[in-house]
Amino acid sequence: MEAVPEKTMPEKTMPREAASEETATAAPGDLGEHFEATVARGARIEPRDWMPDAYRATLVRQIAQHAHSEVIGMQPEGNWITRAPSLRRKAILLAKVQDEAGHGLYLYSACETLGVSREELTALLLAGRQKYSSIFNYPALSYADVGTIGWLVDGAAICNQVPLCRTSYGPYGRAMIRICKEESFHQRQGYELLMTMMRGTGEQRAMVQESVDRFWWPSLMMFGPPDADSPNSARSMAWGIKRNGNDELRQRFVDMTVPQAEALGVSLPDPDLRWNAERESYDFGEPDWSEFAAVLRGEGPCNAQRLAHRARAHEDGAWVRNAALAFAKAGAAHE
Ligand SMILES: [Fe+2]
Ligand SMILES: [Fe+2]
Repeated sequence: MEAVPEKTMPEKTMPREAASEETATAAPGDLGEHFEATVARGARIEPRDWMPDAYRATLVRQIAQHAHSEVIGMQPEGNWITRAPSLRRKAILLAKVQDEAGHGLYLYSACETLGVSREELTALLLAGRQKYSSIFNYPALSYADVGTIGWLVDGAAICNQVPLCRTSYGPYGRAMIRICKEESFHQRQGYELLMTMMRGTGEQRAMVQESVDRFWWPSLMMFGPPDADSPNSARSMAWGIKRNGNDELRQRFVDMTVPQAEALGVSLPDPDLRWNAERESYDFGEPDWSEFAAVLRGEGPCNAQRLAHRARAHEDGAWVRNAALAFAKAGAAHE
């Protein structure tokens, strides 16, 4: 069994001997060199290591956005748990949605090693000051969407996240290893659901096609804007936080997905999609970046609903947090 990502330990309470000799005693110039050299040789930066403020801030932004996406991402599919067509489908969907909650937890924990609490991050999300992936601002309108989200959305997430297992920040990379294993289960369950529906009635096949038509372009947008319009990308790559550009990952996703669509028997809604023998890759059309920008501005179909639901769930859970805190305090008093 995979080890649970290491528990968070605020830097203040880090035992002295945990810091390397070099880090504990070196002058600021040497600390910078140590950081650069560690990143350059592809090794990991750990919470005890000195890091530039901008590196820390970039990580907090990225990991928080990722954590928020996992948690908000429970909503579109969670909406279908009570209406699953069979006990088997309900059990699968419940397990999948619970996994996403767990992913959020690993990632908030990874972020806490950078000195920001989960409470602060949640407050920033609810205040609209931190983002989550735009894909979750689209609704899940039919049970086929449960399959399509697994196949395309979790599939795109895998393409984005597998390289992050080698990211330069240790706690983030270790969280991603476990997350990726679970994401591949998510992708397969989605594909299997669609395959089952495609073997069903004409109505079911039409339901799958309609769902794929709606999710194809938003899935391509999950990789972010073209590299040329993604100003933070280059620096994140230089720091080893990101390992590949947005366009490269988008291409990888398309190349992986087109044969799967063929096996499934669905068409993808892109007239420009065709095999390019010279490049040994698929050519494909440009997503509508104005739609992407609008959803990012909060004008997607479900932005307001998603945040309102998250705020309500947070309020409803206050008694659980208070009870856990009181229990921990009582336990500490007994020691
Ligand atoms: Fe996830
Ligand atoms: Fe997932």
